[in-house]
Amino acid sequence: MSKPNDYWIAPSILAADFARLGDEVSTVLEAGADIIHFDVMDNHYVPNLSIGPLVLDSLRQHGVTAPVDVHLMVKPVDRLIGDFLAAGADYISIHPEATEHPHRSLGIIREGGAKAGLVFNPGTPLTHLEQVIDLVDLVLIMSVNPGFGGQAFIESSLDKVRAVRKLIDQSGRSIRLEIDGGIKPDNIAAAARAGADTFVAGSAIFGTADYADTIASMRSALAELD
Ligand code: DX5
Ligand code: ZN
Repeated sequence: MSKPNDYWIAPSILAADFARLGDEVSTVLEAGADIIHFDVMDNHYVPNLSIGPLVLDSLRQHGVTAPVDVHLMVKPVDRLIGDFLAAGADYISIHPEATEHPHRSLGIIREGGAKAGLVFNPGTPLTHLEQVIDLVDLVLIMSVNPGFGGQAFIESSLDKVRAVRKLIDQSGRSIRLEIDGGIKPDNIAAAARAGADTFVAGSAIFGTADYADTIASMRSALAELD
């Protein structure tokens, strides 16, 4: 099994202070974040409502140039992909249950110039991945059920990360393997050992007083693996 070592920390702005979002994003980037995780919820595919493309557009206007990783928890999904491409998304990830045609949705993302991600919930089998792996730049394994921040990490998601790591290695393609939900300094190493290289953390970062300290403790947990 290959061991990726270019680890990315991806703070989820779902846990940020939305009244000061531009400053929160700037602060977390200065604190060492690699990519901003942007959770889009529609109160239909998931039981919560969050933010849309106008907010990403505002962050770009605010001067945020860092890569943004848009996690679409919306159904239907295809029409919104164009809005997020126009707003400046770098990665756009979709859930296979949220589209009738995952192959087409991934194609729309890539044709628009962004990297395409496919997301698997704790209860979703990996079947879809084998069919479309050639169109995927990122696989996102949910380690909670989508819809809310601050939930407890589901341990069995590590088995799924291991299975995806094998499929990625077999494919020979360069595909990020991201994990999302309940990631903290004390379990990030276990996720990396299972094969993840990109770590979403919302409450674990934005819920602390010093984002740089928290990101540094995540990095030192990862450094001990090498
Ligand atoms: C859940 C979202 C996550 C969430 C993670 O549906 O996809 O990105 O914000 O939050 P924490 O890190 O607090 O579990
Ligand atoms: Zn997310």
